[in-house]
Amino acid sequence: MNKSILITGANGGLGKDAARQLALINETEKIYLACRNSTKAEAAKKSLEETTGREIFEIVIMDVSNPDSVRSALEQIKEPIDALIMNAGGMGGKVPWEITKDGVTQIFAANILGHVVLLDELIKQDKLKNVALYAGSEAARGVKKMGMKQPDLKTSSVEEFSSIIDGSYFGEKMDIMEAYGLVKYMAALWMSSEARKHPNIRFITMSPGGTSGTAVMDDMSGFQKIFFKYIAMPIIMPMMKMVHKLEVGAKRYVDGINDPSLKSGVFYGSKEPIITGPVIDQGSIFSDLNNTSFQDNVNEAIHRFVK
Ligand SMILES: NC(=O)c1ccc[n+]([C@@H]2O[C@H](COP(=O)([O-])OP(=O)(O)OC[C@H]3O[C@@H](n4cnc5c(N)ncnc54)[C@H](OP(=O)(O)O)[C@@H]3O)[C@@H](O)[C@H]2O)c1
Repeated sequence: MNKSILITGANGGLGKDAARQLALINETEKIYLACRNSTKAEAAKKSLEETTGREIFEIVIMDVSNPDSVRSALEQIKEPIDALIMNAGGMGGKVPWEITKDGVTQIFAANILGHVVLLDELIKQDKLKNVALYAGSEAARGVKKMGMKQPDLKTSSVEEFSSIIDGSYFGEKMDIMEAYGLVKYMAALWMSSEARKHPNIRFITMSPGGTSGTAVMDDMSGFQKIFFKYIAMPIIMPMMKMVHKLEVGAKRYVDGINDPSLKSGVFYGSKEPIITGPVIDQGSIFSDLNNTSFQDNVNEAIHRFVK
């Protein structure tokens, strides 16, 4: 049983609801809310204490797009944690193509870079006991009904993955949905690579599935935002079984860390063609996810940018 859990991006959306559900499990003794904004974090802590009746939440200020912020936040974690839920991320803010001081795109930094530093440091300091879960997305294997193509890389070499990380892969103009799918694909490969390196810890990539009631679309702009936030998510997607409620999406994280039948190194998500319902191994839909060379190439490419 996981008594202490750290959740990134825990002030809203899926991260906060996972914190709520986990606090309702008696055995849970401590939940670290790792958030980048202290005002939002305090508000989330207060509301979680009120809704669960438990005072087990501790705020850790951490911007996962910034490795320095992750490293200094880690100084607050004195005792080992049982479970890590790497949930923060999404579309990468208002300028996802912009390059950070680490030479990576914002969308990569927010979804992967800080999480890699966080996981590496926890393992190095022997502060992660049981399980690491990463918030994946079916976008990583393509979602035909939403016009999202399966990643189609030329070589899947360290160089090609590095070009996605530094943005050069996208040329003049980044297609945000394509970039999001590629970043989540690389995250799933990285988790599988780590699973083979550390057999004593379980590594689960879990997509929450299409989930309403979150702010994930808020950073989009113009027509894309209006379409997804006000038309697709509330009207079209529920009719197509492409979206479920917040508590259903967050429950996938809870199951992901607590269900021992889920296998380390596997990326779990919905069955085709929908993005709700029971989860299955996404490698059965997109076999590139099972390619151990691709997994290790991603891991090597990512670590070129970890200083
Ligand atoms: N909703 C879906 O349909 C869906 C489907 C598949 C996968 N996912 C994944 O699920 C995760 C959670 O998404 P959500 O739908 O719950 O979206 P959300 O409501 O926008 O929540 C994202 C959370 O991540 C935090 N965050 C973003 N960038 C951060 C950073 N650099 N450092 C620290 N925290 C950061 C946000 O904090 P602020 O409040 O400060 O911005 C917020 O707490 C994401 O990784 C997303 O890609 C979502």
